[in-house]
Amino acid sequence: MSEAASLYGQEHVQRYRETNGAVGHIWRNGAKVLLLTTMGRKTGKPTTTPLIYEQAGDDVVALSGMCRAPDGAVEDGLTVVRRDWRRRGVAEALKRAKLAWATANGVDRITTWTQRGNDGMRALNERLGYEYRSVSITVRASLEQLRL
Ligand SMILES: CC(C)(COP(=O)(O)OP(=O)(O)OC[C@H]1O[C@@H](n2cnc3c(N)ncnc32)[C@H](O)[C@@H]1OP(=O)(O)O)[C@@H](O)C(=O)NCCC(=O)NCCS
Repeated sequence: MSEAASLYGQEHVQRYRETNGAVGHIWRNGAKVLLLTTMGRKTGKPTTTPLIYEQAGDDVVALSGMCRAPDGAVEDGLTVVRRDWRRRGVAEALKRAKLAWATANGVDRITTWTQRGNDGMRALNERLGYEYRSVSITVRASLEQLRL
């Protein structure tokens, strides 16, 4: 396995920066990785995360992330595919790359989230073998409607 294939999270960000991407741009199974830096809305602090991406020509057509919570739980994070590239197996390929990495790196449980109405992601998660565990229900009302 190449050095890059075992990198994850902040370790991945550090090696990528040290080598200007020579180690870390090409990850597992040939998946390409970019570093995304976002600014915290409240903290104003930058956070950099490695994200898998796929290109068509010069355009980025898909992104897919994976993260580890402070308690060690690994999450198969948000995957987004540009509309004109959907239903060509791009999301499935990106998610399979993440799951292959997790398996090879001793992760024994992985969680992902989606919502009712997102039939595409639900179908894909089911195809990949995810099983439903916790269901969260969000209710919302304006304060005027509530009997206080
Ligand atoms: C969900 C999303 C990432 C799927 O990307 P994609 O590249 O089109 O997915 P794939 O081509 O890999 O699809 C693999 C399988 O998933 C299922 N699937 C994907 N989109 C579907 C849809 N709109 N309706 C039903 N099933 C769908 C199918 O089983 C599909 O296999 P098939 O094409 O052989 O039938 C894409 O629609 C997207 O970017 N949506 C907006 C962002 C989003 O909702 N992300 C997830 C948040 S939880």
